[in-house]
Amino acid sequence: MTQLLGAPLYWLPLGLGAIALLGWQRWAKQQRFKSLRSLPSPPQHWLLGNIPQLLGAVKNRQLFQILFDWSKELGPKYVYWVGYPVLVLSQPKLIDSTIVQGTRDGSLVRTGQSQRAWNDLMGPIMIGQDGPEWQWRRKAWNPEFSSSGVSHYMTLVDQACQQTLAQLQAAPPGEPVPMDPLFVELTMRVIAALVLGIPIDPSQPSSEGPPLEIEPTYNAMAVLTYRFLRMAVGEKAWRKYLPTQASKDYWAARRYLENCLRSRLDLALELRYGDPAALEKASPLFQQSMLVKIAAKEPHYSRATLLPEIVEMLIAGTDTTAHTLSFAVGELALNPSVFQKAQATVDRVFDHHDAITLASFKELSYLQGVVKETLRLYSVASGTTSLQATRDMVVDDVKLPAGARLFWSTLGAGRDPEAYPQPDKFWPDRWLTEDRQTPAPPMIDFGSGPHRCLGEHLAMLESTLMLAQLLRHFDWELVNGRSSVENLKQNLLIYPVDRMPVYLQRRSH
Ligand code: HEM
Repeated sequence: MTQLLGAPLYWLPLGLGAIALLGWQRWAKQQRFKSLRSLPSPPQHWLLGNIPQLLGAVKNRQLFQILFDWSKELGPKYVYWVGYPVLVLSQPKLIDSTIVQGTRDGSLVRTGQSQRAWNDLMGPIMIGQDGPEWQWRRKAWNPEFSSSGVSHYMTLVDQACQQTLAQLQAAPPGEPVPMDPLFVELTMRVIAALVLGIPIDPSQPSSEGPPLEIEPTYNAMAVLTYRFLRMAVGEKAWRKYLPTQASKDYWAARRYLENCLRSRLDLALELRYGDPAALEKASPLFQQSMLVKIAAKEPHYSRATLLPEIVEMLIAGTDTTAHTLSFAVGELALNPSVFQKAQATVDRVFDHHDAITLASFKELSYLQGVVKETLRLYSVASGTTSLQATRDMVVDDVKLPAGARLFWSTLGAGRDPEAYPQPDKFWPDRWLTEDRQTPAPPMIDFGSGPHRCLGEHLAMLESTLMLAQLLRHFDWELVNGRSSVENLKQNLLIYPVDRMPVYLQRRSH
């Protein structure tokens, strides 16, 4: 009894001490980040800052939207608070120069949180690494994905586009065709052919491993990427060990992908050591695959590090280009004069050359403008990375103290009127820099700095070729009109909720 009565008295000084410590920490943090208090901020919860709004946005699959809405409301530089301040920018030139300069001089590094989230998909991967661990990975893959490296795969990419075209030609006339799933199949087949040597045509045998099953592979990738987004805004890695449905889905997705890839990985590693039995098992397509080349030339790669890297390539190479193609189809339908100009460009190339080759591809720069204009307005990979200041630095006259974070709204940036006059106009000509005095507008949709997209050239080649085939063979209109490009959500990437259904009309030549 005496003990019980004495307890509060005993704990009192400790409790007061803890409160004082917390108070002091809060005060010190406020002092450290004082310079950011003068910038506009969205309304905050007194204790949790903006965490509830952000978690709600991720749950509704609209993280990109809340950042964009805040940038419209608060201007091109604002701060949100999640225990620490995050400075959000939405001017493309400023975003680009800050990332390039900051990562070069070391004042900005990628946040541990987003790196942990990347590396927890399946294991350590290029996009989740920095320094030497990133360098050897990137060096190994760079030649394959360079402009000339990718051009070697043009025939395969073209074959995949022709296959999608045949699927469209077989669709029942007059019925709406959802384009997004077809583009997902296209891009997954392309990246699987290039990286793993799986034939584009599913009816062709592939002795090295199981066939590519589009839907289950896609579902497994979606589980992993949605988890990335949750972790990037604060979900803890240990939650994957809790007996929840989300954890079960996560482990099932990992197992599925590992089973799909295991035999091809093993074979590539056997080929690395010149095993003649392995050579007999490997088709020419497999022997030419990036997996075999990378395994042969980069001894750092083991089975454990190659597996997550290949999953990364499949994820990075699929939805990004697929959704971009869907949005391009949508915007073309909504802008008849752009549609006609794009179609006339394609007709000219086909009339002169019969087919698209490396040489005639150069004549499709207007279509490349269509893709870039689409990315400007629907920057699909919005919000995949954030950076952290390692020391006090200045970003456009704002002092960014050490420990503060930097993020950007690519949707906001894509509509910056200074960088892109008449930002709401879908105008591919703004990207045609030939014969022009003014420099090309900034393009941050493939990222900035050292981690800029590895697959940029492949994405441009693939989407240009696919659009060319579509424009050559079809006219189309949107089943749901403008709402198709307005009703958007985000898994890891931004996608059209209705899957972009169109009515196709065949053209006669
Ligand atoms: C329209 C299509 C695409 C868009 C908009 C896009 C966008 C991006 C962005 C913004 C980043 C930088 C992320 C960061 O800074 O952390 C990135 C990185 C990356 N992208 Fe893409 N991407 C596209 C297509 C592809 C394709 C087809 C591949 C093929 C494998 C690919 C592979 C990668 C890889 C591996 C990285 C990480 C690079 C590194 O960390 O060094 N991407 N992409």
